[in-house]
Amino acid sequence: MKKKKDKEEISKLWGGRFSEATDMFVQKFTSSVAFDKRLYQYDIDGSIAHARMLCKEGILSSDDFNQIKSGLESIRDEISSGQFIWSIELEDVHMNIESALVEKIGEVGKKLHTARSRNDQIATDIRLYVRDEIDNICALLTRVQSALVNLAEREANTIFPGFTHLQTAQPVTFGHHLLAWYEMLDRDFMRFRDCRNRVNQSPLGSAALAGTTFPIDRYYTAELLGFQKPTNNSLDSVSDRDFAIELAAAGSLLMTHLSRFSEELVLWNSVQFNFVNLPQSFCTGSSIMPQKINPDVPELVRGKSGRVFGHLFSLLSLMKSQPLAYNKDNQEDKEPLFDIVDTIKDCLFAYSEIIPAITCNRKEMLESSMKGFATATDLADYLVIKGLPFRDAHGVVGQAVAYAIKRHCDLSELTIEQLQKFSNLIEPDVFEVLTLEGSVNARNHMGGTAPNQVLAAVKAAKKELSDR
Ligand code: ARG
Repeated sequence: MKKKKDKEEISKLWGGRFSEATDMFVQKFTSSVAFDKRLYQYDIDGSIAHARMLCKEGILSSDDFNQIKSGLESIRDEISSGQFIWSIELEDVHMNIESALVEKIGEVGKKLHTARSRNDQIATDIRLYVRDEIDNICALLTRVQSALVNLAEREANTIFPGFTHLQTAQPVTFGHHLLAWYEMLDRDFMRFRDCRNRVNQSPLGSAALAGTTFPIDRYYTAELLGFQKPTNNSLDSVSDRDFAIELAAAGSLLMTHLSRFSEELVLWNSVQFNFVNLPQSFCTGSSIMPQKINPDVPELVRGKSGRVFGHLFSLLSLMKSQPLAYNKDNQEDKEPLFDIVDTIKDCLFAYSEIIPAITCNRKEMLESSMKGFATATDLADYLVIKGLPFRDAHGVVGQAVAYAIKRHCDLSELTIEQLQKFSNLIEPDVFEVLTLEGSVNARNHMGGTAPNQVLAAVKAAKKELSDR
């Protein structure tokens, strides 16, 4: 497979000290352009900022800078209009663009790479990409959260069966349940925003690993690219991808939450639960069973959580044990990272469309809440207020429930005489606590399920969203 250095090889940007051509397999194996070309916008922004700084420092003349800048801008136009021809011989996005620049503006183009390396270049590109995508993810998260808040407001009074162990536990309001989802997403939002602070630092100027001998101004390039500050240590800057791992971790938690919503929606949408209807435009049918309307989108979101978790593990594994500073392993960060971002954005988009279109079957929610003695705890609390220690009250109510089960009725359907057999503390006012409405209204404290607490939480959430 070895061949002597030929003409094409001499043209490789790093080919100077080579006497043998790159093996064709190696060329393909090591090239990243197939996927990193996606970073071209950021690569060009970074190059223009770098060249502008070189000009300010007198390392490039104004004329050189202007030629480089307009050359890069026309390459950007060619790429965005689909005319640019990418070549795997040129390995990656950086060298494809740099070669095109030299081809376009001649010798001056060769000055662009002064005081820089692809190592700080790629670290800059990915940070710019991640920063932008965090903003896109946060905007989508806000849309989903707003949709949840609006639905929660509409369903603030709707009685809904609250579960633990997927067994009837206590009645709640459906609005309260939806706001539990809201809270999960709120923490996700904060995690992304927090991650953004650490992403938003400029590695540019770290060069290959040790910095550069040229009198560069890293604060200036950081400012030009909208970074909060330059990173502190050149070795660390070109090598660590912990910020991408943080994004993957925040994304994995988000997908965990979306998978929980998905699971509940799939259950609730079934004829057995029949609590909600998903918009038909977001469902699909069966090729054999004519009656089916399947909740494929929530199922896929549930399923796609797995690929995001997998990417988190890929990123952790590729970083683990890497010696300082840059290693080619890091090239493997891009495909997982891109797929995480694409997957998360699709899943959030899906929910931003589905949630406002959900319709609720309040009658079914109410009937289901009546099953399973959801107000048993309320009866126990009632007895405590009348003076019985809670543990004894628990026992009394347990016996009353067993009695009602034998008679195939709810606690609220027993007569006062029947109830009094279990405790003489029970009086006719007991029926107020045995109703579902009484039960939810009684949980009237901050964070509780009472409709007025749900409305207060909706108000606070709306304010939080509008302050963002
Ligand atoms: N394609 C490389 C990456 O994604 C860019 C940096 C390569 N640097 C190098 N010296 N080979 O990490």
